[in-house]
Parts: sequence; structure tokens; C-alpha cells
Amino acid sequence: MRAAIILAAGQGTRMKSARPKVLHEVLGRPMVQWVVDAARLAGAKPIVVVVGYGAQAVRDSFAGQDDVIFAVQEQQLGTGDALACGLAALPAETDSLFVLCGDVPLIPTQELQALVEAQQGCALSVLSFKSQPPHGYGRKLRQDGKVCAIIEAKDASSEQLAISECNSGTYCFDAEFLRGSIASLDTNNAQGEFYLTDLVAIAHASGAGAAAVVAADAARLAGANDRCDLAALNKRAQSLVNEALMRSGVTMEDPASTWVDSTVSVGPETVIAPGVRLSGRTQIGAACRIGQGSVIGDSLLGDGVVVHPYSVFESAQVEAACSVGPFARLRPQAYLETGAKVGNFVEVKKARFGAGAKANHLAYIGDAEIGAGANIGAGTITCNYDGANKHLTQIGEGSFVGSNSTLVAPIKIGDGAFVAAGSVVTREVPEGALGVGRVKQRNIEGWVARAAPKKG
Ligand code: UD1
Ligand code: CA
Repeated sequence: MRAAIILAAGQGTRMKSARPKVLHEVLGRPMVQWVVDAARLAGAKPIVVVVGYGAQAVRDSFAGQDDVIFAVQEQQLGTGDALACGLAALPAETDSLFVLCGDVPLIPTQELQALVEAQQGCALSVLSFKSQPPHGYGRKLRQDGKVCAIIEAKDASSEQLAISECNSGTYCFDAEFLRGSIASLDTNNAQGEFYLTDLVAIAHASGAGAAAVVAADAARLAGANDRCDLAALNKRAQSLVNEALMRSGVTMEDPASTWVDSTVSVGPETVIAPGVRLSGRTQIGAACRIGQGSVIGDSLLGDGVVVHPYSVFESAQVEAACSVGPFARLRPQAYLETGAKVGNFVEVKKARFGAGAKANHLAYIGDAEIGAGANIGAGTITCNYDGANKHLTQIGEGSFVGSNSTLVAPIKIGDGAFVAAGSVVTREVPEGALGVGRVKQRNIEGWVARAAPKKG
């Protein structure tokens, strides 16, 4: 049985943040979640997350993931101590385990598999990468080609600092070796911490041996210690996600300015214009067009939807062949049925548009049900809020609401009804009726010549 221990108890002081470092996000997913997902994909079970600083917040971020269990490291005495805490939480039948850092999010699954193979017949295997300059990473020391130790940058001599083979903090251990050797770690080093990296020298000295795998793609093994590192990781993740989408048939006019969370799906033949952000649980259908500068979060779009530039979606749902924007705002529970249209400067909240219904210009539609084929004129407002409660507006199928109408909810406009432009509607307009709720126009003949103010 192969388990995983993920070290995630540190505060991450270099982040200068109240939030635990491992909860800082890469493309909308906390770093530690990326690591857990990679371990899961590599078949690890259970996955032990060692928590300490901000423990509750880290635990909460895994709500509903039953294969994740937690070990608490009360004091952050170093990665070796964190590993000891995790080890105590592992089931006895664990034969081998991955040890991963919660701040190294982009580890490829195939490297984990390579680590498993390399560890056969050894006490442990460790994943390294070449970095020039090698920054503050631990350096891998070799003797006759074999890894004999990892030396932390702060403990290294100037000769050792010149070594470009860096420790990624990703390992596969034989569980028996680990149980037998973890207690021999000490704090005799520059930082006065228990270093898990010392296990490499212990394995080498005992004859059990350590193996090293050198990663193909070094950029994926970078850790994030500060917000500059985090930005670099986001950039790397962005190209991974965008490349995968483009290879699956999505066109990106400018991948460098397109930000798609790793949790988002996009159908083939969809075209994404520059400056778009798609986040959270968003799913975009096939053959859509997402216009420049649009921001779409936690929303579902069917096939063939056209989003014109600079539109904002938040927890909205849009069926096939709808058209939205430019400059439209769909707020939570906005729902557009097939072929509906929401145009420029229209805000929709908790409202359902029936198939083919339209609000093409300048409107606020909140707490409303709009029948199929209805036409909502420019400047229409649903007055859904009386200062205390929200009320429903119902607009019937095929009805016509004239421009600049004010619909005071609760209110119902019947099927096929007609509301005259500029009306303030406070009573039901029955099916097929004309509702006029405005001051009647009167003309005063000859008034201009007779009574209009004259220039002095
Ligand atoms: C560590 C490695 C270094 C490697 C680098 C890769 C050690 C001693 N050094 O250094 O060789 O190049 O990772 O990114 O292992 N943590 C705890 N409890 C603690 C201390 C740390 O859980 O007491 C966790 C942190 O939350 C973090 C991970 O362990 O997720 C690594 O800790 P960090 O302090 O970032 O180690 P580095 O200095 O980066
Ligand atoms: Ca680190």
C-alpha cells in the first residue's frame, strides 16, 4: 500500500500573509490542493496532510475529500519533524509513501511514477531538477554518481552552492526505512531545525541507498516561498492549462492574456478572445465565442453561446445559442434559456429568461420570470426591492415591455400583453391587454409664440 504525506504546517513567513502559505492559489486552486490531487492521481491512499499554522483553514479547504486525513504538527520544528508527525498518522500496513511539499504544486504525475520505480531496492528516491541560479533550494551532493546527501543552501559551502542539481522536496520512501530512521534526525544545522533532507545521508550511510530522478521540466518543480514565486507558478500553470485546452480544440487568440482555472472545462471550436478570465466551476460548451475582457466565474454556458466583450458572469447559467453583452452582467441565478439575448448594460439577477426572450439594452432584471419570446425594452427596471423584501416580477410569453418601463413587484404581465413605453406598472396587466401607466400627453397650441420665455 502506497500512501502520501504532504507537509503543509508552515506559516510561510516570506508570503507576508495571514493566510497559510499552502492556501495561496495557483489558477484558483490552493497550492496544497494541487499537491493532493497529484498524489491521488498517482494512486496514493490515504493522503496525510500535516497541518499546523492555520490548521483549521487548511482542514476546511479539504471538506468532502474523504481520502485526506490530517496530522497536527503543534510547533514548526522543521520538515523532518513534520514528517514524523505525518508518519504517526499512517496505517501500519503502509509499505511505501510519497513525501511532498504543500508549496510545490505543479509536480507531474509521471515524475511521481518515476520516483516509485527508482525507489525499488532503495531506502528512498528523491526528485531533483536543474536550476540556474539554484536560489535557496537544497543542493544534491553525489559521490561516485550516487546521491549521498542533500545540503541546505544555508548550510552549504561556496563550492556546494555552485551545484545546480536542486532538491524539489518530493520523495518516495520505503516505509520501514523511514520508521526506523526518523528518530535519528537532529537539529545540528544553520536553522536549528529537523531537516527531512538529512534522511538522504542516513540512507546512503546505512547502505540502503538513495536514488535520484532528475525531472524533465524543471519549471514544474519550483516551490513558492513568496508572492513573486507564486506569480511565476501561476504563469507556468497558465501555459499548461492553456496548452491542454488548445490541443483539445479551443482557439485562444492570445493565450498569454487568457486565464483559465484548472477546474474549468471548455468545449472544442470555442474561441476565446484576449484578456478573458474563466474561473471556478465554469463549464463552456462547444463553438462558443467569449469576447475580449470577459470574466466568467462558476457559470455554465451551452454550445454556440456568444459572449460579446467585457461581460461579467457570476454563478449564471446560459443555454445554447444565447447572446450576452457587450458590457452585460449576469449575477447569481441568472438563467437564460436557448437563444435568449441580454445586451449592453443589462444586469440580470435571480431571473429566468425563456427561450428567445430579449433584453437588449440598459435594463435591470432581478427576481423575475420572463416567458419565451418576450421583449424587454431599453431602460426597463424590475423594482424588486421595497426596502425590506424582494418580490417577483412575472412577464408572460411573447409579451412586449416598452422602453423605460418601471415594473413594481410583485407584479404580473400576462402572456402576449403590451406595456406602453414609460409606464410605471403597479397592477397586473392581463393577457393580451395594453397597460399604460403614464401621464397622458397634452399639447397646448400656439404656446411657444405666446408664452415661452424670450431672450433678453
Ligand atoms: C525545502 C527543503 C529543500 C528543498 C525545498 C524545495 C528541507 C530542510 N529543505 O526547503 O531542500 O529544496 O524544500 O521546495 O526539507 N513545513 C512543515 N513544518 C515545518 C516546516 C515546513 O509542515 O516545520 C512544510 C511547509 O509548510 C512547506 C514544506 O514543509 O510546505 C517545505 O517547507 P519550507 O520551509 O518551504 O522549506 P524550504 O526552505 O523551501
Ligand atoms: Ca519551500
